[in-house]
Amino acid sequence: MKLYLDTAVYEEIEQAVGWGVVDGVTTNPTLIAKAGHDHEEQVKRICQIIGNVSAECVSEKKDDMVVEGRRLASWHKNVIVKVPLTPDGLGAGKVLAGEGIRINVTLCFSVNQALLAAAIGAYIVSPFAGRLDDINEDGMRVVADIVSAYRQQEIKTKVLAASIRNPTHVTQAALAGADIATLPFAVLKQLFEHPLTAAGQKRFLEDYRQARAAVGSEKADGGARAQPEERSAYRKTEEAKPVQGQAREATAKR
Ligand code: E4P
Repeated sequence: MKLYLDTAVYEEIEQAVGWGVVDGVTTNPTLIAKAGHDHEEQVKRICQIIGNVSAECVSEKKDDMVVEGRRLASWHKNVIVKVPLTPDGLGAGKVLAGEGIRINVTLCFSVNQALLAAAIGAYIVSPFAGRLDDINEDGMRVVADIVSAYRQQEIKTKVLAASIRNPTHVTQAALAGADIATLPFAVLKQLFEHPLTAAGQKRFLEDYRQARAAVGSEKADGGARAQPEERSAYRKTEEAKPVQGQAREATAKR
């Protein structure tokens, strides 16, 4: 399962790219508004550092959305155009997909809706797990069912688990067979965390520092104190050497 970042904040994306763990970014009008930058400028900037950047259409009518989708796609080759799972959104998505533009169908909440997204040749469908949980439904069950239906129907559209709220969602999405999960930056950071990793790393570094300090104090006495290996090598050489008197004796006997 690929990991995408669900944010429009450039600094967060830059940091996660540096960690080498993300393959894409999903933005939506809410996230763009939160980031507080011009939509085009921000999407183009993000596309400079990562591929697979979803940018969402905000038009409501099919024809307007087709025009808007073409414009979004023209910004950068990494752009994936997001359309909502509405009749107009899917109609526009079908036209755009026919032109070779990658489409992410967003706001999907059921298997039937996911089948509609597949029918227009969407590249990605985005079921919103967290928002289903919010209304007392099982979001990850829906993700798992979409994956299962797609596998049975040999549908190639990728399932992207969206509206992820916590690390458990990420594990569940992977176990459900989702192709991608898009995570808020805070959740991505949580994935690194484990008390045993933190304790183990602390211990390794302490041991390393102690060992270095011991070597350092030996070096500090001018190397007068030999290392254990040096000591044993010296002993062997000395044992092999005949002492002066013995050597003279041996010569006289010959
Ligand atoms: C991703 O494409 C969605 O826009 C996003 O995951 C929605 O998440 P939310 O339900 O937390 O707003």
